[in-house]
Amino acid sequence: MNDVLPDEVGRWQRVEQAYARTMSLYGFREVRTPYVEPTALFTRAIGEATDVVEKEMYSFVHHDEPLTLRPEGTAGAARAYIEHQVHAKEPVSRWWYGGAMFRAERPQRGRYRQFYQLGAEIFGDPGPGCDAEMIDMLVQLLGELRVPGVQVYVNSLGGADTRARYRDALVAYLGPKAASLTPDSQRRLGTNPLRILDSKDERDRAACEGAPTLHDFLGADDRAHFEALRKHLDALGTPYTVDPRLVRGLDYYTRTLFEIKGAKDKLGAGDTLVGGGRYDNMLADLGGQAAPAIGFAAGLERLLIASELEAPAGRVDALVAPLGDTVGAALGLARELRRSGIRCECDTRGSTLKSQLRRANALGARVVVIQGDTELAAGVVQVKDLDAHTQETMPRDQAIRVVVDRLVAASRSVDSRRPDATTPTPVPPAAKPGGEA
Ligand code: HAM
Repeated sequence: MNDVLPDEVGRWQRVEQAYARTMSLYGFREVRTPYVEPTALFTRAIGEATDVVEKEMYSFVHHDEPLTLRPEGTAGAARAYIEHQVHAKEPVSRWWYGGAMFRAERPQRGRYRQFYQLGAEIFGDPGPGCDAEMIDMLVQLLGELRVPGVQVYVNSLGGADTRARYRDALVAYLGPKAASLTPDSQRRLGTNPLRILDSKDERDRAACEGAPTLHDFLGADDRAHFEALRKHLDALGTPYTVDPRLVRGLDYYTRTLFEIKGAKDKLGAGDTLVGGGRYDNMLADLGGQAAPAIGFAAGLERLLIASELEAPAGRVDALVAPLGDTVGAALGLARELRRSGIRCECDTRGSTLKSQLRRANALGARVVVIQGDTELAAGVVQVKDLDAHTQETMPRDQAIRVVVDRLVAASRSVDSRRPDATTPTPVPPAAKPGGEA
């Protein structure tokens, strides 16, 4: 579990803001569900024989009630959808969420015990149109986040019956080779054989070489669904690879399954940025009205490792630097600047001009508004532009307008160089409550 210090939070916010914007462009609305849910929700939704449920949940009993810190967001979203009977209010619900998830995994780069996911779920649409759109939306988003080397992998798991028949075939194929499997996979042969296909160990990979693939077992409807997904992705021009071995670690999936990888040189083996898929049986399995569903989640820390987005420039736009006995007036000036949308700090330490200018530089301020006793008495301030290397004395009332103009000009020139710039553009001074301009 990690601290995220303010120096890093700027990049987190850029990714979160880009995500929230994408979600709203695609008609998703945010849902916030609890961090703690009854343990049974996760065992039922995710599956008893999964790594998450078997080994990774932070579970505890409080007053005889078994509870778990959420290891993922889908089960909670599905529970909320059922509990609030959302299906009766609208035919299709598009929900997104972001927040901490908890899994007691072995920590490594890009894998933590408290990690953050940005996820989304669509309830009520059987696809495959929305499946394709979801995948394409993620590719667009990763492009906006400047993630290099994005690769999409898709597969179809078919329905529960397909998986049962495939499971039998896989056990029949791997059974005679059991001795060559890793101990973990030997155990999985009895509990969750599909997970053996996911193993990164060479021994398991060699044993799976030549194993039947799921696709040989897909029924006609599942096959048509998958073909239509591919057709839609082709029409959108979204590149993807069909990976018949892709199974993923949660048991609730049916039909469409996908993973998106990227920035392999930075993430190594943990380069899965996004995982998702369809789970058409979960709502009914949890006791709700049956409804098709699909969703995904992206690991925020992994996105940040992968993304080439830089931290937003500058912590403030301006520093108000009072000298002598002028702090009270300076605080009022800073407040007026902020009303005009200018991010600013007032240096109230009572320090020298030199040290205040050093502070302005450290904060990335473009402008310093200096006011000493003489200036205060004369109703003027000095506006020092650190980029243009100019310093002008002007009436205090005029200073706000000048500072805004300079910052607007500066942010325009930054915007034209950096299309993703998110430094807020100052707004012209708003009318004050008293009616003054
Ligand atoms: P998941 O594959 O378990 O799927 O997790 C999705 C993403 O969360 C992973 O691809 C990875 O980027 C990130 N992630 C998972 N575990 C960790 C960890 N320990 N540390 C850092 N990042 C991690 C789900 O959670 C499903 N709920 C996705 C979904 C939504 N399927 C349908 N709807």
